[in-house]
Amino acid sequence: MDIDGSSAVVTGAASGIGRASALALARAGARVVVADLAARRGAQVVDEIGTAGGIAVFRHCDVTRTEDLAGAFACALEHFGRFDIAFNNAGIAGEDLFEDTAGDWQRVVDVNLTAVIDATRIAVREMRRLGGGVVVNTASMGGILPIPDSPVYAATKAGVVNFTRSLAYLAPAHRVRVNAVCPSYTDTPLVRRRGDEDLADIKQRMGGILQPEDVAAGVLELVQDDSRAGAIMRVTVRGGRDYARDVRP
Ligand SMILES: NC(=O)c1ccc[n+]([C@@H]2O[C@H](COP(=O)([O-])OP(=O)(O)OC[C@H]3O[C@@H](n4cnc5c(N)ncnc54)[C@H](O)[C@@H]3O)[C@@H](O)[C@H]2O)c1
Repeated sequence: MDIDGSSAVVTGAASGIGRASALALARAGARVVVADLAARRGAQVVDEIGTAGGIAVFRHCDVTRTEDLAGAFACALEHFGRFDIAFNNAGIAGEDLFEDTAGDWQRVVDVNLTAVIDATRIAVREMRRLGGGVVVNTASMGGILPIPDSPVYAATKAGVVNFTRSLAYLAPAHRVRVNAVCPSYTDTPLVRRRGDEDLADIKQRMGGILQPEDVAAGVLELVQDDSRAGAIMRVTVRGGRDYARDVRP
């Protein structure tokens, strides 16, 4: 897909990977709906895009609410007259499962898996009606490899991977491509929350840490490459960008 002149909705766009992807999509010529719970940080991203010569609007969105997701996609049509790209990216970190007495793990499932399924469902229906589009879902290398300290997080991301692979057929049938990006550890608030010691350990084990812009470059590739449907892109420090378990329609 040619990003120039398109319109994109990015969830979790107020921070980290979503922010970098919203900026990169806008730089490539997309008009962007910055959708997030965080209004102040979201407005800052809209300003950054505007300062760089791009066009964006903020839309408050809790991805666990179907009406918020539908509202964010409708916002693209209302403001920009089209809706071509959905980057379902909002996500939260894992849990200490066996110390979790408050049921926080359920929220991880709700945000990282259930909401991605719901967003894809709504976006695909809309894109089929409009004649085509691209959905990119954020999974993780933790959706391919085990993460002992975050098993529910890993399960949600594995769910996103196989959900996405299963939708490869939508490309030939409906001109809608659904792909997923699987980043390794990326330097964002989500990871920084683990503290300096953990961060140093991650960098040593992984040979460094990705920058959000490295992942954003992968997202743009998944949008632009018309041959990719049901594709699972890995982004790692040592391996760069490559594809796992590729399914072509
Ligand atoms: N940082 C990493 O190492 C890493 C690695 C692999 C995958 N990921 C995934 O990348 C995605 C983005 O993470 P990040 O690292 O940029 O984190 P981040 O914390 O920097 O950004 C996440 C954004 O999502 C928003 N958000 C959270 N819950 C939401 C909700 N219910 N509705 C709407 N917005 C919500 C937050 O407000 C925040 O702006 C997540 O899906 C995460 O699981 C991150």
